[in-house]
Amino acid sequence: MTTESTWAAVDTYFTDLLVPEDEALAHARRAGDAAGLPPISVTPTQGKLLHLLARLVPAHRILEVGTLAAYSTIWLARALPDDGRLITLEFAPAHAAVARANLAHAGLDKVAEVRTGPALDSLAALHAEGTAPFDLVFIDADKANNARYLEWSLKLTRPGGLIVLDNVVRSGEVADAASDDPAILGTREALELIASHPDLDGTAVQTVGAKGYDGFALARVRA
Ligand code: SAH
Ligand code: DHB
Ligand code: MG
Repeated sequence: MTTESTWAAVDTYFTDLLVPEDEALAHARRAGDAAGLPPISVTPTQGKLLHLLARLVPAHRILEVGTLAAYSTIWLARALPDDGRLITLEFAPAHAAVARANLAHAGLDKVAEVRTGPALDSLAALHAEGTAPFDLVFIDADKANNARYLEWSLKLTRPGGLIVLDNVVRSGEVADAASDDPAILGTREALELIASHPDLDGTAVQTVGAKGYDGFALARVRA
C-alpha cells in the first residue's frame, strides 16, 4: 500500500536530486517557522514547478495572492528577467513583515513588492491604478475567495497568460458536491469558472508529496 510516508520519501529523493534548497530558500522557511507562521508554503518540487512555468510563459510581470513567508514568491521572482516585477498580496501584517525580510535576504526586495491588506481590496486597487497586465498569477490565499480572485486575475492578465490556483484537491474534499466548507465551495466555483469561461482554457492536476495530497488548477487566458 502506498502511503503518505512513501510520498514524502519520494519527495525527499526528488528534492535532494533535482531542487536542493539554497541558503535563501532555507532561510525563508526557517524564518517563517521561527515567527510561528503555519507550515503551508509550497514544497521545493512545487516551487520549482512554479518557477519553470513562469520561465515558460515567459513571465515578465507576476502577481501572487497569498504571500505567507514569501517562499513561493522567491521561487517565482527568480524566474523573472532583470527588469521583471512581482507583486504579492498578503492580509496579515506579521506575515508581510517576515516576507519582506525574507525577500531582502534573498536579494529580491527590488523585484518583489509585498502589498498588505485584504487581497480583494488590493486587486481592486491594482485595477483602478491601471497596473500593466500580468503574465502569470499564482492564487494561494483564503480559498473561499478563489472564484473572486480568479475573476480579478482574468481582468489583470494578458492574453496568453497563465493563472495557477493552489490547493484545489484538499485530500479529495473537492469532489464532494455536498460539502458546505467555504474553502471547498470557493474552489469548486473557481473550477466551474475555468470550465465555463470562454477566455479560459484549463485543467487540474492532483499531487502527492511531503505535504500530503492536494493539487493545482492551471488556466491559460486565451490569446
Ligand atoms: N504562497 C505561499 C503560501 C500562502 S499561505 C507559499 O506557498 O509560500 C496563504 C496566505 O494567504 C497566508 O499568509 C494568509 O495570511 C494569506 N491570506 C489569507 N486571507 C487573505 C486575504 N483575504 N487577502 C490576502 N491574503 C490572505
Ligand atoms: C492551507 C493553505 C495553503 O495555501 C496551503 O498550501 C496549504 C494549506 C490551509 O489554509 O490550510
Ligand atoms: Mg497553498
